[in-house]
Amino acid sequence: MKGDHLNSPKPEVLRVGICGLGTVGGGTLNLLTSNQQLIARRVGMPIEVVNVATRTLDPAKVAGVARSGTDPFAVVKDPEVDLIVETIGGFDPAFEVVKQALANGKHVVTANKALIAEHGNELFAVADENNVSLAYESSVAGGIPVIKALREGLAGNKIDWLAGIINGTGNFILSEMSAHKRQFADVLQQAQEMGYAEADPTFDVEGIDAAHKLTIMGSIAFGMPLRFSSTYTEGISKITPEDISYAKELGYVIKHLGIARRTDAGIEMRVHPTLVSKSRLLAKINGVGNAVMVYGDAVGSTLYNGPGAGAEATASAVVADIIDLARHQMAGATKPVYPGLGYRELDDNLQVMNIDAIESEYYLRILAADKVGVMAKISNVLQDHGIGIDAVIQKEAESESVPIVILTHLAIEAQMNKAIAALESLSDVTGSIMRIRLEPFHGQKI
Ligand code: HSE
Repeated sequence: MKGDHLNSPKPEVLRVGICGLGTVGGGTLNLLTSNQQLIARRVGMPIEVVNVATRTLDPAKVAGVARSGTDPFAVVKDPEVDLIVETIGGFDPAFEVVKQALANGKHVVTANKALIAEHGNELFAVADENNVSLAYESSVAGGIPVIKALREGLAGNKIDWLAGIINGTGNFILSEMSAHKRQFADVLQQAQEMGYAEADPTFDVEGIDAAHKLTIMGSIAFGMPLRFSSTYTEGISKITPEDISYAKELGYVIKHLGIARRTDAGIEMRVHPTLVSKSRLLAKINGVGNAVMVYGDAVGSTLYNGPGAGAEATASAVVADIIDLARHQMAGATKPVYPGLGYRELDDNLQVMNIDAIESEYYLRILAADKVGVMAKISNVLQDHGIGIDAVIQKEAESESVPIVILTHLAIEAQMNKAIAALESLSDVTGSIMRIRLEPFHGQKI
């Protein structure tokens, strides 16, 4: 019978099967083993890994596990497994592994942000039909318990804004480029060697990984279905050392932020390089560190910071989910305590706005002819489009051109696009204009 063992009033042990023994799966097995007694005391029963599937079986890695093999579906079908940990990553076979496990009445803990962001709506429905949980704390911000913060700790708040550094690899690259003037490719290679980067590192540097994580956090914050395809995604590969140093001169740090914001016009969900005032706590998060700021109407500004990637940090979050589910079993819960996104009822009417409709401040880097009157022409174009200037720096001429850096007041993106097109058509402006959004933090105190 489905979930028979778990539905007995007093299970004596929680039997775990792990599918995928890479960085996160291996870290999870190690942590469950090294902290076994402590965890058993916290839960009130032992948690035991009884079956493991891994692409290449290394006997040393699975010593002490009763059963092991290369087929994840054998773990899913194992009647002696109560809970599946999916740490394979990607969609194939991870999607079927998770779906079948849920359909077989087993709880699933996954670290797979792509799977949750892109297929979570369907998978949560399967979990719901089968009265089991699909838990995914480790899918966002590695070891930082930000899903629990949003879904549990802040459950009494209306959340209108959150922003975070949610890709460790990207933050590591920007931090190193900024502190040591290192080259992008060189730092990326180091991040790959340290096990931070995705199998395809373009997911990190082009913002797809962060968009997966933002999609998940935004849905929990606002209570809407997951809408990954509507999340705007822009990477960091076009950021130059010059932009980093002009931003510094103006009092800003360039971070790759994921921003989710509820406005009267709709929901903003966007990942892009962003100027952050150096006085903000987020500006001080360096290396592989992640941090998420959330504003709740009751609590005010909050910040969650810690390691966003790596075997042990991510395993910490996987094991926390396993412990949660073990505790629910110990308490005799026959239905999941938390629905997938933390709401019994999601708001289907909430729609994500097109990037053209969002409102932001902007950094513009313009290369212009070194002639009298150029600055006046540029400011006239901005003024004609209703865009106010907040700060300007003009550098020494580079040959016949001079870099002009402008910070603007708030503007609608579509209007900024028109202004940029008009500026680029000026005969005194050379090449394309670099535009980086600047986050005003909308009343945040930290
Ligand atoms: N590649 C991801 C990162 C791993 O660098 O943040 C954690 O999701």
